[in-house]
Amino acid sequence: MADLWQNAMDYAVAIARKAGEVVRDALRDDMKVMTKSSSVDLVTQTDQKVEQLIIQSVKEKFPTHRFIGEESVAAGEACDLTDSPTWIIDPIDGTTNFVHAFPFVAVSIGFSVNKQSEFGVVYSCLEDKMFTARRGKGAFCNGEPLKVSDQEDIKQSIIATEFGSSREPEAVDKIFSSLRNILCIPVHGVRGAGSAAINMCLVASGCVEAYYEIGIHIWDVAAGSLIVSEAGGVLMDVEGGGVDLMSRRIVAANRRAIAERIVKEIDSFSPPRDDTPPSKQ
Ligand code: IPD
Ligand code: CA
Ligand code: CA
Ligand code: CA
Repeated sequence: MADLWQNAMDYAVAIARKAGEVVRDALRDDMKVMTKSSSVDLVTQTDQKVEQLIIQSVKEKFPTHRFIGEESVAAGEACDLTDSPTWIIDPIDGTTNFVHAFPFVAVSIGFSVNKQSEFGVVYSCLEDKMFTARRGKGAFCNGEPLKVSDQEDIKQSIIATEFGSSREPEAVDKIFSSLRNILCIPVHGVRGAGSAAINMCLVASGCVEAYYEIGIHIWDVAAGSLIVSEAGGVLMDVEGGGVDLMSRRIVAANRRAIAERIVKEIDSFSPPRDDTPPSKQ
């Protein structure tokens, strides 16, 4: 089995590279920008085209595997993580960046078996950085090993977070109160790349000590979370305890103490889980 998943990961890397080319080419064309749940939840034909390209390519080689893809879920497919081998796809992570040519845009492919991540691939396609991790085998960027920062002091840290695409005033208030608490620790700085996957790769690379966000989806973090843990980092729920990738909340940090301090400062809330059927939301 081990070799089969290595094979699948090599295939994912090749697909992500091809997808990245499509994304880069599309930046030069006229874009048709559409919206989904709100006027700030953007999608383009390229998001849909890249997702189909990835799914079709995987189906050719692994016809029995399952998929969770952002744009397929948006089109009404269930977000269902079973024990079967499942590819978890975010065709463009950072669609708002893509629309504005803000240069942090990623193709993210996670792969899970028995609900356990086996590999993660994040291709930051405008930087041409290929981040990979295989369970138990470390994390890499363009083939070079990654290691999280060894900073133990949150006051000497950069923390990444995002505002997401929800503009519900209550959620925005909680985001701002968390941000205020974190800034007032005080930390060296707060940053956000506009892509959950790239934020997680920044943690894995040791450039930022931690990333947290409430409102993410499983496709935003499936690949990045394995890249963080294989680079020596820790994952936590925003109320402490283990991360549930369907819960739409995550803290990823270089050290447990830094993750715990962030948990202490966060004003948490619970968006509808990814596996909640639309009728119950
Ligand atoms: C979004 C990005 C953004 C994060 C949002 C995500 P998308 O993904 O990762 O940084 O704040 O929560 O939904 O929609 O660009 O794939
Ligand atoms: Ca989106
Ligand atoms: Ca995303
Ligand atoms: Ca996306």
